[in-house]
Amino acid sequence: MKVIVLVGSLRKDSRSLKLAKSLKAFAPKYLDLKIADIALPMYNEDLETDTPPEEWELFRKKIKQADAVLFITPEYNRSVPAVLKNAVDVGSAPDGKNVFENKPAAIISLSPGKMGAFGANHHLRQALVFLNMPTMQQPEAYIGSSEQLFDDDGNITSHGTLLYLMEFLEAFARWIRVHSGFAELL
Ligand code: FNR
Repeated sequence: MKVIVLVGSLRKDSRSLKLAKSLKAFAPKYLDLKIADIALPMYNEDLETDTPPEEWELFRKKIKQADAVLFITPEYNRSVPAVLKNAVDVGSAPDGKNVFENKPAAIISLSPGKMGAFGANHHLRQALVFLNMPTMQQPEAYIGSSEQLFDDDGNITSHGTLLYLMEFLEAFARWIRVHSGFAELL
């Protein structure tokens, strides 16, 4: 199952990006996780012509070819970072051509604070309802104290968190199966 991972931070040392990379290493073998670039030109309906920005077209193609989407995001001002919201907007347009339609989704949010970017996680869920993405409800993943998540080599420090994330991915694989008919793989 091809899963596109959208990371809500452009920062070189982003912990969300580190998490996306480490999930690739311990995801179940039938989940092929690929991180997509979301540094896209800002959405503007005026650019929605026969030749929209190349980056938009490439991004839309990647989402279309994926079986599911995993969002890994920090929180900015209790909401979704603009870069991620922009990617959601680009993929959803133009009207009638929403490439996210029916793609199973899951969200992992993380922040240095104790609330684990709960606000971003749920604001994102609100947009995914409109995009008609079946979004996994349980288990939920709000990772707090993210500054302690990795050691200097980028390994997840907490065994409990690691196990939880592995279970999360197993549950997501089952979710994708239920929502896209991959029963024969599991
Ligand atoms: C933040 N940060 C933040 N954290 C949080 O828990 N709730 C919030 O509302 C905000 N708001 C916020 C706004 C802006 C503009 C910035 C730049 C930062 C802190 C944020 O969680 C922290 O920088 C994370 O480390 C960013 O994630 P990455 O880049 O490590 O993935």
